[in-house]
Amino acid sequence: MKNLFSQKILIIDFGSQYTQLIARRVRELGVFSEIQAWDAKTNTTDITLIKGVILSGGPESVTEGLSAPKIPDFVFSLNVPILGICYGMQAIAQHFGGEVQSSDKREFGYAKVKKEHDSLLLNELSDNVDNSTEEILDVWMSHGDKVVRAPNDFKCIASTDSCLIAGFESKNKRIFGLQFHPEVTHTKQGFFILRSFVTLICDCSKLWTPAAIIDDQIRRVQSLVGKKKVLLGLSGGVDSSVVAALLNRAIGDQLICVFVDNGLLRKNEGDHVMQMFAKNLGINVIRVNAQKEFLEGLSGIAEPEQKRKIIGKKFIEVFERESSKLGDVEFLAQGTIYPDVIESAGAETGKAHVIKSHHNVGGLPDEMRLELVEPLKELFKDEVRTIGLKLGLSREIVFRHPFPGPGLGVRILGEVTEEYADILREADAVFIEELQATGWYEKTSQAFAVFLPVKSVGVVGDGRRYEWVIGLRAVETIDFMTARSAPLPHDFLEKVSNRIINEIPKVSRVTYDISSKPPATIEWE
Ligand code: XMP
Repeated sequence: MKNLFSQKILIIDFGSQYTQLIARRVRELGVFSEIQAWDAKTNTTDITLIKGVILSGGPESVTEGLSAPKIPDFVFSLNVPILGICYGMQAIAQHFGGEVQSSDKREFGYAKVKKEHDSLLLNELSDNVDNSTEEILDVWMSHGDKVVRAPNDFKCIASTDSCLIAGFESKNKRIFGLQFHPEVTHTKQGFFILRSFVTLICDCSKLWTPAAIIDDQIRRVQSLVGKKKVLLGLSGGVDSSVVAALLNRAIGDQLICVFVDNGLLRKNEGDHVMQMFAKNLGINVIRVNAQKEFLEGLSGIAEPEQKRKIIGKKFIEVFERESSKLGDVEFLAQGTIYPDVIESAGAETGKAHVIKSHHNVGGLPDEMRLELVEPLKELFKDEVRTIGLKLGLSREIVFRHPFPGPGLGVRILGEVTEEYADILREADAVFIEELQATGWYEKTSQAFAVFLPVKSVGVVGDGRRYEWVIGLRAVETIDFMTARSAPLPHDFLEKVSNRIINEIPKVSRVTYDISSKPPATIEWE
Protein backbone atom coordinates (compact mmCIF):
# COMPACT_ATOMS: atom_id res chain seq x y z
CA MET A 1 0.00 0.00 0.00
CA LYS A 2 1.26 3.49 -0.83
CA ASN A 3 1.79 5.84 2.09
CA LEU A 4 3.37 9.26 2.31
CA PHE A 5 6.82 7.79 2.99
CA SER A 6 6.75 5.21 0.19
CA GLN A 7 8.64 7.56 -2.13
CA LYS A 8 11.20 10.23 -1.44
CA ILE A 9 13.63 12.61 -3.05
CA LEU A 10 17.04 12.56 -1.38
CA ILE A 11 18.91 15.86 -1.25
CA ILE A 12 22.66 15.60 -0.92
CA ASP A 13 23.90 18.71 0.88
CA PHE A 14 27.16 20.31 -0.22
CA GLY A 15 26.68 23.20 2.22
CA SER A 16 24.53 25.60 0.22
CA GLN A 17 22.46 28.18 2.09
CA TYR A 18 19.56 27.05 -0.12
CA THR A 19 19.59 23.32 0.70
CA GLN A 20 16.62 23.46 3.06
CA LEU A 21 14.76 25.51 0.48
CA ILE A 22 15.21 22.72 -2.09
CA ALA A 23 13.75 20.23 0.40
CA ARG A 24 10.79 22.49 1.12
CA ARG A 25 10.05 23.04 -2.57
CA VAL A 26 9.97 19.28 -3.17
CA ARG A 27 7.54 18.87 -0.28
CA GLU A 28 5.37 21.68 -1.68
CA LEU A 29 5.06 19.42 -4.71
CA GLY A 30 3.59 16.75 -2.42
CA VAL A 31 6.67 14.53 -2.19
CA PHE A 32 8.64 13.67 0.95
CA SER A 33 12.26 14.88 0.83
CA GLU A 34 15.19 14.21 3.08
CA ILE A 35 18.55 15.99 3.43
CA GLN A 36 21.80 14.14 3.94
CA ALA A 37 25.27 15.71 4.15
CA TRP A 38 27.60 14.60 1.30
CA ASP A 39 30.05 13.28 3.93
CA ALA A 40 27.50 11.76 6.33
CA LYS A 41 29.24 8.99 8.28
CA THR A 42 26.20 6.77 8.34
CA ASN A 43 23.58 6.41 5.72
CA THR A 44 20.42 6.89 7.76
CA THR A 45 18.05 6.92 4.86
CA ASP A 46 16.15 3.90 3.50
CA ILE A 47 17.54 3.84 -0.02
CA THR A 48 14.89 1.54 -1.45
CA LEU A 49 12.34 4.38 -1.33
CA ILE A 50 14.45 6.97 -3.15
CA LYS A 51 12.92 7.95 -6.49
CA GLY A 52 15.39 10.71 -7.32
CA VAL A 53 18.40 12.62 -5.99
CA ILE A 54 19.08 16.35 -6.00
CA LEU A 55 22.65 17.54 -5.44
CA SER A 56 22.71 20.96 -3.78
CA GLY A 57 24.97 23.91 -4.40
CA GLY A 58 27.86 24.66 -2.11
CA PRO A 59 30.66 27.10 -1.34
CA GLU A 60 33.60 24.87 -2.39
CA SER A 61 35.23 24.36 -5.78
CA VAL A 62 35.38 20.96 -7.52
CA THR A 63 38.76 22.04 -8.89
CA GLU A 64 40.33 21.78 -5.45
CA GLY A 65 41.26 18.15 -6.04
CA LEU A 66 40.97 15.61 -3.26
CA SER A 67 39.72 18.07 -0.67
CA ALA A 68 36.65 19.00 -2.76
CA PRO A 69 33.35 17.45 -1.64
CA LYS A 70 32.37 14.46 -3.81
CA ILE A 71 29.09 12.88 -4.79
CA PRO A 72 28.78 9.77 -2.56
CA ASP A 73 29.19 6.53 -4.57
CA PHE A 74 25.87 5.04 -3.51
CA VAL A 75 24.04 7.82 -5.39
CA PHE A 76 25.06 6.38 -8.76
CA SER A 77 24.18 2.81 -7.79
CA LEU A 78 20.58 3.78 -6.99
CA ASN A 79 19.80 3.99 -10.68
CA VAL A 80 17.35 6.88 -10.22
CA PRO A 81 17.31 10.32 -11.91
CA ILE A 82 19.80 12.90 -10.56
CA LEU A 83 19.59 16.69 -10.70
CA GLY A 84 22.68 18.73 -9.81
CA ILE A 85 22.24 22.39 -8.92
CA CYS A 86 25.23 24.77 -9.15
CA TYR A 87 28.04 22.93 -7.29
CA GLY A 88 25.98 19.76 -7.80
CA MET A 89 26.11 20.27 -11.58
CA GLN A 90 29.85 20.92 -11.49
CA ALA A 91 30.39 17.76 -9.43
CA ILE A 92 28.46 15.75 -12.04
CA ALA A 93 30.52 17.29 -14.83
CA GLN A 94 33.73 16.37 -13.10
CA HIS A 95 32.59 12.86 -12.22
CA PHE A 96 31.79 12.04 -15.87
CA GLY A 97 34.92 13.59 -17.38
CA GLY A 98 33.70 17.09 -18.29
CA GLU A 99 35.64 20.25 -17.47
CA VAL A 100 35.00 22.87 -14.79
CA GLN A 101 36.74 26.23 -14.80
CA SER A 102 37.48 27.95 -11.54
CA SER A 103 36.99 31.66 -11.11
CA ASP A 104 37.32 34.14 -8.26
CA LYS A 105 34.77 36.37 -9.91
CA ARG A 106 31.23 35.52 -8.81
CA GLU A 107 28.21 35.93 -11.05
CA PHE A 108 25.48 36.85 -8.62
CA GLY A 109 21.92 37.96 -9.30
CA TYR A 110 19.35 37.84 -12.10
CA ALA A 111 20.31 36.35 -15.45
CA LYS A 112 18.58 35.60 -18.72
CA VAL A 113 19.08 32.01 -19.79
CA LYS A 114 18.55 30.96 -23.38
CA LYS A 115 17.10 27.49 -23.88
CA GLU A 116 19.14 25.24 -26.18
CA HIS A 117 17.62 22.06 -27.66
CA ASP A 118 14.56 20.28 -26.39
CA SER A 119 14.91 19.07 -22.87
CA LEU A 120 12.93 16.92 -20.50
CA LEU A 121 13.71 19.24 -17.62
CA LEU A 122 12.89 22.61 -19.14
CA ASN A 123 10.28 21.23 -21.60
CA GLU A 124 7.59 23.81 -22.34
CA LEU A 125 8.84 26.43 -19.87
CA SER A 126 9.84 29.96 -20.83
CA ASP A 127 9.37 33.49 -19.53
CA ASN A 128 9.74 35.35 -22.81
CA VAL A 129 11.07 35.16 -26.32
CA ASP A 130 13.96 37.30 -27.58
CA ASN A 131 14.35 39.06 -30.96
CA SER A 132 15.59 35.91 -32.67
CA THR A 133 12.54 34.03 -31.29
CA GLU A 134 14.64 32.07 -28.81
CA GLU A 135 13.00 31.12 -25.55
CA ILE A 136 14.35 32.85 -22.46
CA LEU A 137 14.11 31.96 -18.75
CA ASP A 138 14.59 34.60 -16.03
CA VAL A 139 16.75 32.92 -13.40
CA TRP A 140 18.85 33.50 -10.28
CA MET A 141 22.58 32.80 -10.52
CA SER A 142 25.11 32.66 -7.72
CA HIS A 143 28.38 31.04 -8.72
CA GLY A 144 32.07 31.48 -9.39
CA ASP A 145 33.06 28.23 -11.13
CA LYS A 146 31.32 26.98 -14.26
CA VAL A 147 31.22 23.95 -16.54
CA VAL A 148 33.14 24.74 -19.76
CA ARG A 149 32.95 21.28 -21.38
CA ALA A 150 30.02 18.92 -20.84
CA PRO A 151 30.88 15.22 -20.42
CA ASN A 152 30.25 12.81 -23.34
CA ASP A 153 26.64 11.86 -23.64
CA PHE A 154 25.47 15.17 -22.05
CA LYS A 155 23.95 17.92 -24.19
CA CYS A 156 23.72 21.58 -23.30
CA ILE A 157 20.13 22.67 -22.61
CA ALA A 158 20.64 26.28 -21.49
CA SER A 159 23.20 29.06 -21.81
CA THR A 160 23.91 32.68 -20.95
CA ASP A 161 26.43 35.04 -22.56
CA SER A 162 28.92 34.50 -19.75
CA CYS A 163 28.11 30.86 -18.99
CA LEU A 164 27.84 28.83 -22.16
CA ILE A 165 26.72 25.66 -20.39
CA ALA A 166 24.12 26.86 -17.85
CA GLY A 167 22.32 23.52 -17.96
CA PHE A 168 22.90 20.02 -19.36
CA GLU A 169 21.23 16.66 -19.46
CA SER A 170 21.86 13.07 -20.40
CA LYS A 171 18.63 11.36 -21.38
CA ASN A 172 20.32 7.93 -21.30
CA LYS A 173 21.70 8.34 -17.82
CA ARG A 174 18.72 10.39 -16.61
CA ILE A 175 21.14 12.93 -15.13
CA PHE A 176 20.55 16.70 -15.27
CA GLY A 177 22.46 19.81 -14.21
CA LEU A 178 21.54 23.48 -13.75
CA GLN A 179 24.01 26.26 -13.03
CA PHE A 180 21.21 28.52 -11.77
CA HIS A 181 18.96 28.01 -8.74
CA PRO A 182 15.44 26.72 -9.47
CA GLU A 183 14.65 26.56 -5.73
CA VAL A 184 14.64 30.34 -5.17
CA THR A 185 11.56 32.35 -6.11
CA HIS A 186 13.65 34.79 -8.19
CA THR A 187 13.86 32.01 -10.80
CA LYS A 188 10.37 32.54 -12.14
CA GLN A 189 9.82 29.05 -13.55
CA GLY A 190 11.84 27.40 -10.76
CA PHE A 191 8.88 25.65 -9.16
CA PHE A 192 7.83 24.18 -12.52
CA ILE A 193 11.38 23.05 -13.32
CA LEU A 194 11.48 21.16 -10.02
CA ARG A 195 8.02 19.82 -10.74
CA SER A 196 9.25 18.44 -14.09
CA PHE A 197 12.07 16.70 -12.30
CA VAL A 198 10.06 15.31 -9.39
CA THR A 199 6.80 14.32 -11.06
CA LEU A 200 7.66 13.80 -14.74
CA ILE A 201 11.22 12.51 -14.59
CA CYS A 202 11.19 10.75 -11.18
CA ASP A 203 7.54 9.72 -11.54
CA CYS A 204 6.53 10.67 -7.98
CA SER A 205 2.89 11.21 -7.07
CA LYS A 206 1.39 13.69 -4.62
CA LEU A 207 1.27 11.78 -1.34
CA TRP A 208 2.76 14.30 1.10
CA THR A 209 -0.29 16.36 2.10
CA PRO A 210 -1.21 17.95 5.46
CA ALA A 211 -4.16 15.58 5.99
CA ALA A 212 -1.98 12.53 5.25
CA ILE A 213 0.78 13.81 7.57
CA ILE A 214 -1.71 14.21 10.44
CA ASP A 215 -3.29 10.76 9.89
CA ASP A 216 0.09 9.11 9.70
CA GLN A 217 1.35 10.76 12.90
CA ILE A 218 -1.81 9.93 14.79
CA ARG A 219 -1.42 6.28 13.85
CA ARG A 220 2.28 6.24 14.76
CA VAL A 221 1.75 7.96 18.12
CA GLN A 222 -1.12 5.63 19.00
CA SER A 223 0.89 2.52 18.24
CA LEU A 224 3.98 3.83 20.12
CA VAL A 225 2.18 5.03 23.23
CA GLY A 226 -0.64 2.51 23.63
CA LYS A 227 -2.56 3.29 26.82
CA LYS A 228 0.34 5.01 28.60
CA LYS A 229 0.64 8.67 29.62
CA VAL A 230 2.60 11.36 27.80
CA LEU A 231 4.00 14.52 29.34
CA LEU A 232 4.53 17.73 27.33
CA GLY A 233 6.20 20.97 28.36
CA LEU A 234 3.87 23.49 26.73
CA SER A 235 5.45 26.88 26.12
CA GLY A 236 2.75 28.47 23.98
CA GLY A 237 5.20 28.67 21.04
CA VAL A 238 4.20 27.27 17.65
CA ASP A 239 5.97 23.90 17.88
CA SER A 240 4.86 22.78 21.33
CA SER A 241 1.33 24.08 20.59
CA VAL A 242 1.06 21.96 17.45
CA VAL A 243 2.40 18.91 19.33
CA ALA A 244 -0.28 19.48 21.99
CA ALA A 245 -3.07 19.69 19.40
CA LEU A 246 -1.79 16.64 17.52
CA LEU A 247 -1.36 14.47 20.61
CA ASN A 248 -4.72 15.56 21.90
CA ARG A 249 -6.22 14.21 18.65
CA ALA A 250 -4.20 11.01 18.93
CA ILE A 251 -4.43 10.09 22.61
CA GLY A 252 -6.84 12.56 24.28
CA ASP A 253 -6.69 12.38 28.06
CA GLN A 254 -3.44 10.43 28.13
CA LEU A 255 -1.68 13.73 27.32
CA ILE A 256 -0.71 15.92 30.26
CA CYS A 257 0.78 19.35 29.55
CA VAL A 258 2.79 21.36 32.01
CA PHE A 259 2.90 25.10 31.44
CA VAL A 260 5.47 26.91 33.56
CA ASP A 261 4.79 30.60 34.18
CA ASN A 262 8.29 31.82 35.02
CA GLY A 263 7.50 35.52 35.29
CA LEU A 264 9.39 36.13 32.03
CA LEU A 265 6.44 35.74 29.69
CA ARG A 266 4.75 38.38 27.57
CA LYS A 267 1.67 40.26 28.76
CA ASN A 268 -1.33 37.95 29.40
CA GLU A 269 0.54 35.01 27.88
CA GLY A 270 -0.28 32.55 30.67
CA ASP A 271 -3.99 33.36 30.46
CA HIS A 272 -3.97 33.03 26.66
CA VAL A 273 -2.36 29.61 26.80
CA MET A 274 -4.86 28.38 29.39
CA GLN A 275 -7.78 29.80 27.40
CA MET A 276 -6.65 28.23 24.13
CA PHE A 277 -5.55 24.80 25.32
CA ALA A 278 -7.41 24.04 28.52
CA LYS A 279 -10.69 25.81 27.77
CA ASN A 280 -11.08 25.75 23.97
CA LEU A 281 -9.39 22.45 23.16
CA GLY A 282 -10.13 20.65 26.42
CA ILE A 283 -6.51 19.59 26.89
CA ASN A 284 -5.14 18.64 30.32
CA VAL A 285 -2.90 21.60 31.23
CA ILE A 286 -1.25 22.10 34.61
CA ARG A 287 -0.26 25.73 35.09
CA VAL A 288 2.66 26.14 37.46
CA ASN A 289 3.14 29.61 38.89
CA ALA A 290 6.87 29.77 39.46
CA GLN A 291 7.53 33.50 39.00
CA LYS A 292 9.00 33.96 42.44
CA GLU A 293 11.33 31.01 42.13
CA PHE A 294 12.76 32.18 38.79
CA LEU A 295 13.18 35.82 39.84
CA GLU A 296 14.91 34.81 43.06
CA GLY A 297 17.28 32.58 41.10
CA LEU A 298 18.13 35.48 38.78
CA SER A 299 18.60 38.06 41.50
CA GLY A 300 21.95 39.85 41.24
CA ILE A 301 22.94 38.08 37.97
CA ALA A 302 23.73 40.29 34.97
CA GLU A 303 25.75 38.09 32.59
CA PRO A 304 23.60 36.79 29.67
CA GLU A 305 24.96 33.25 29.44
CA GLN A 306 24.74 32.83 33.20
CA LYS A 307 21.12 34.03 33.11
CA ARG A 308 20.32 31.53 30.33
CA LYS A 309 21.81 28.69 32.35
CA ILE A 310 19.95 29.63 35.54
CA ILE A 311 16.63 29.88 33.69
CA GLY A 312 17.24 26.52 31.97
CA LYS A 313 18.17 24.82 35.23
CA LYS A 314 15.19 26.25 37.12
CA PHE A 315 12.89 25.15 34.34
CA ILE A 316 14.12 21.58 34.69
CA GLU A 317 13.75 21.66 38.47
CA VAL A 318 10.16 22.89 38.26
CA PHE A 319 9.27 20.50 35.47
CA GLU A 320 10.75 17.48 37.26
CA ARG A 321 8.99 18.39 40.48
CA GLU A 322 5.62 18.62 38.73
CA SER A 323 6.09 15.46 36.70
CA SER A 324 7.14 13.43 39.73
CA LYS A 325 3.80 14.35 41.29
CA LEU A 326 2.04 12.76 38.34
CA GLY A 327 3.40 9.25 38.84
CA ASP A 328 3.03 6.79 35.98
CA VAL A 329 4.16 8.87 32.99
CA GLU A 330 6.36 6.95 30.51
CA PHE A 331 6.71 9.29 27.53
CA LEU A 332 7.94 12.82 27.07
CA ALA A 333 6.72 14.74 24.00
CA GLN A 334 8.92 17.35 22.36
CA GLY A 335 8.43 19.88 19.59
CA THR A 336 11.65 19.00 17.76
CA ILE A 337 11.34 19.96 14.09
CA TYR A 338 13.36 18.88 11.03
CA PRO A 339 15.79 21.85 10.96
CA ASP A 340 16.74 20.95 14.60
CA VAL A 341 17.52 17.41 13.43
CA ILE A 342 19.60 18.70 10.52
CA GLU A 343 21.41 21.15 12.82
CA SER A 344 22.30 18.52 15.38
CA ALA A 345 23.61 16.29 12.59
CA GLY A 346 25.72 19.31 11.53
CA ALA A 347 26.89 19.78 15.11
CA GLU A 348 28.07 16.15 15.21
CA THR A 349 30.31 16.70 12.19
CA GLY A 350 31.65 19.83 13.89
CA LYS A 351 30.24 22.23 11.29
CA ALA A 352 27.95 24.22 13.55
CA HIS A 353 29.21 27.43 15.09
CA VAL A 354 27.82 28.48 18.46
CA ILE A 355 27.36 32.20 19.17
CA LYS A 356 24.87 31.84 22.05
CA SER A 357 24.07 28.73 24.01
CA HIS A 358 20.60 28.42 22.55
CA HIS A 359 19.75 26.44 25.54
CA ASN A 360 16.31 25.42 24.48
CA VAL A 361 14.62 25.88 27.81
CA GLY A 362 12.60 22.75 28.08
CA GLY A 363 15.55 20.52 27.20
CA LEU A 364 15.28 17.91 29.93
CA PRO A 365 17.96 15.81 31.61
CA ASP A 366 18.67 12.22 30.60
CA GLU A 367 17.94 10.95 34.11
CA MET A 368 14.23 11.48 33.55
CA ARG A 369 14.37 8.25 31.54
CA LEU A 370 11.21 9.00 29.65
CA GLU A 371 10.88 7.73 26.12
CA LEU A 372 10.60 10.55 23.56
CA VAL A 373 7.63 11.28 21.31
CA GLU A 374 8.63 13.76 18.60
CA PRO A 375 5.82 13.91 16.05
CA LEU A 376 7.17 16.98 14.18
CA LYS A 377 10.70 15.84 13.66
CA GLU A 378 10.27 15.28 9.93
CA LEU A 379 8.60 18.66 9.34
CA PHE A 380 9.74 22.13 8.36
CA LYS A 381 8.30 25.15 10.20
CA ASP A 382 5.89 26.05 7.41
CA GLU A 383 4.56 22.47 7.39
CA VAL A 384 4.15 22.61 11.19
CA ARG A 385 2.09 25.78 10.74
CA THR A 386 -0.09 24.27 8.04
CA ILE A 387 -0.95 21.21 10.10
CA GLY A 388 -1.48 23.42 13.19
CA LEU A 389 -4.21 25.31 11.35
CA LYS A 390 -5.71 22.04 10.13
CA LEU A 391 -5.81 20.81 13.72
CA GLY A 392 -7.87 23.83 14.72
CA LEU A 393 -5.28 26.15 16.29
CA SER A 394 -5.89 29.87 15.83
CA ARG A 395 -3.86 31.92 13.33
CA GLU A 396 -2.68 33.97 16.30
CA ILE A 397 -0.90 30.95 17.80
CA VAL A 398 0.25 29.42 14.53
CA PHE A 399 1.73 32.58 13.01
CA ARG A 400 3.15 34.15 16.12
CA HIS A 401 6.75 35.25 16.10
CA PRO A 402 9.32 33.01 17.80
CA PHE A 403 9.93 33.72 21.47
CA PRO A 404 13.22 32.57 23.03
CA GLY A 405 13.11 29.95 25.78
CA PRO A 406 14.61 32.34 28.38
CA GLY A 407 11.87 34.82 27.44
CA LEU A 408 12.11 38.37 28.77
CA GLY A 409 15.13 37.17 30.74
CA VAL A 410 17.32 37.98 27.71
CA ARG A 411 15.35 41.09 26.77
CA ILE A 412 16.00 42.85 30.07
CA LEU A 413 19.65 43.77 29.77
CA GLY A 414 21.66 42.89 32.83
CA GLU A 415 19.91 42.07 36.07
CA VAL A 416 16.29 40.94 35.87
CA THR A 417 13.76 42.33 38.37
CA GLU A 418 10.01 42.07 38.61
CA GLU A 419 9.69 45.82 38.12
CA TYR A 420 11.71 45.76 34.89
CA ALA A 421 9.76 42.74 33.62
CA ASP A 422 6.44 44.54 34.26
CA ILE A 423 7.58 47.67 32.40
CA LEU A 424 8.89 45.62 29.48
CA ARG A 425 5.69 43.56 29.24
CA GLU A 426 3.61 46.75 28.90
CA ALA A 427 5.91 48.33 26.30
CA ASP A 428 6.12 45.11 24.29
CA ALA A 429 2.32 44.78 24.30
CA VAL A 430 1.91 48.31 22.87
CA PHE A 431 4.47 47.62 20.12
CA ILE A 432 2.91 44.28 19.14
CA GLU A 433 -0.62 45.73 19.22
CA GLU A 434 0.40 48.51 16.81
CA LEU A 435 2.26 46.08 14.54
CA GLN A 436 -0.84 43.91 14.34
CA ALA A 437 -3.16 46.85 13.75
CA THR A 438 -1.10 48.03 10.77
CA GLY A 439 -0.37 44.66 9.16
CA TRP A 440 3.35 44.98 9.96
CA TYR A 441 3.31 42.00 12.34
CA GLU A 442 2.90 39.58 9.43
CA LYS A 443 5.47 41.43 7.35
CA THR A 444 8.18 41.05 10.01
CA SER A 445 9.72 37.78 11.15
CA GLN A 446 10.25 38.77 14.76
CA ALA A 447 9.53 41.95 16.70
CA PHE A 448 9.79 42.84 20.37
CA ALA A 449 10.74 45.46 22.93
CA VAL A 450 13.91 45.44 25.02
CA PHE A 451 14.42 46.98 28.46
CA LEU A 452 17.58 49.09 28.75
CA PRO A 453 18.60 49.70 32.35
CA VAL A 454 19.76 53.28 31.84
CA LYS A 455 17.93 56.40 32.90
CA SER A 456 17.24 59.32 30.62
CA VAL A 457 15.65 62.73 31.12
CA GLY A 458 12.36 63.61 29.47
CA VAL A 459 9.56 66.12 29.84
CA VAL A 460 5.99 64.89 30.01
CA GLY A 461 3.27 67.52 30.48
CA ASP A 462 4.93 70.19 32.62
CA GLY A 463 7.02 67.76 34.58
CA ARG A 464 10.53 66.41 34.31
CA ARG A 465 10.81 62.68 33.96
CA TYR A 466 14.00 60.74 34.70
CA GLU A 467 13.21 57.16 33.76
CA TRP A 468 14.13 54.06 31.77
CA VAL A 469 14.76 53.49 28.04
CA ILE A 470 12.93 51.00 25.83
CA GLY A 471 14.51 49.68 22.61
CA LEU A 472 12.32 48.40 19.78
CA ARG A 473 13.55 45.62 17.51
CA ALA A 474 11.88 44.27 14.37
CA VAL A 475 13.63 42.08 11.81
CA GLU A 476 13.07 40.43 8.47
CA THR A 477 14.73 37.07 7.99
CA ILE A 478 14.20 33.71 6.34
CA ASP A 479 16.36 31.48 8.50
CA PHE A 480 17.17 33.60 11.61
CA MET A 481 20.86 33.08 10.84
CA THR A 482 21.04 36.42 9.06
CA ALA A 483 18.54 39.26 9.41
CA ARG A 484 18.01 42.92 8.63
CA SER A 485 16.05 45.44 10.60
CA ALA A 486 12.54 45.95 9.24
CA PRO A 487 11.97 49.28 7.46
CA LEU A 488 9.10 50.33 9.73
CA PRO A 489 7.66 53.72 8.67
CA HIS A 490 8.85 56.69 10.68
CA ASP A 491 5.36 57.85 11.64
CA PHE A 492 4.53 54.36 12.84
CA LEU A 493 7.59 54.32 15.10
CA GLU A 494 6.74 57.79 16.35
CA LYS A 495 3.23 56.65 17.26
CA VAL A 496 4.53 53.58 19.14
CA SER A 497 7.09 55.72 20.95
CA ASN A 498 4.47 58.31 21.99
CA ARG A 499 2.11 55.63 23.21
CA ILE A 500 4.79 53.88 25.26
CA ILE A 501 6.01 57.09 26.92
CA ASN A 502 2.49 58.38 27.56
CA GLU A 503 1.05 55.11 28.82
CA ILE A 504 3.99 53.85 30.87
CA PRO A 505 5.17 56.40 33.47
CA LYS A 506 8.42 54.47 34.07
CA VAL A 507 9.67 55.06 30.51
CA SER A 508 11.11 58.35 29.29
CA ARG A 509 12.59 57.41 25.92
CA VAL A 510 12.20 54.93 23.05
CA THR A 511 14.80 53.96 20.42
CA TYR A 512 14.64 51.79 17.28
CA ASP A 513 17.43 49.28 16.66
CA ILE A 514 18.60 49.30 13.03
CA SER A 515 21.45 46.79 13.31
CA SER A 516 21.65 43.84 10.94
CA LYS A 517 22.67 40.31 11.85
CA PRO A 518 25.59 39.89 11.43
CA PRO A 519 27.30 41.82 12.96
CA ALA A 520 24.58 42.17 15.64
CA THR A 521 22.26 39.34 16.68
CA ILE A 522 18.47 39.42 16.78
CA GLU A 523 18.15 39.38 20.57
CA TRP A 524 20.17 41.92 22.53
CA GLU A 525 21.76 39.33 24.80
P1 XMP B 1 19.96 35.53 17.89
O1 XMP B 1 19.78 36.49 19.01
O2 XMP B 1 20.98 34.48 18.18
O3 XMP B 1 18.56 34.78 17.76
O4 XMP B 1 20.21 36.22 16.58
C1 XMP B 1 18.17 33.92 16.70
C2 XMP B 1 16.82 33.32 17.06
O5 XMP B 1 16.97 32.47 18.22
C3 XMP B 1 16.16 32.93 19.29
N1 XMP B 1 16.93 32.77 20.53
C4 XMP B 1 16.74 31.77 21.43
N2 XMP B 1 15.86 30.76 21.45
N3 XMP B 1 16.75 30.02 23.52
C5 XMP B 1 15.85 29.89 22.52
O6 XMP B 1 15.03 28.96 22.57
C6 XMP B 1 17.69 31.03 23.57
O7 XMP B 1 18.48 31.12 24.49
C7 XMP B 1 17.66 31.95 22.46
N4 XMP B 1 18.40 33.04 22.15
C8 XMP B 1 17.94 33.53 20.97
C9 XMP B 1 15.86 34.38 18.96
O8 XMP B 1 14.66 34.82 19.59
C10 XMP B 1 15.78 34.35 17.45
O9 XMP B 1 14.51 33.88 17.01
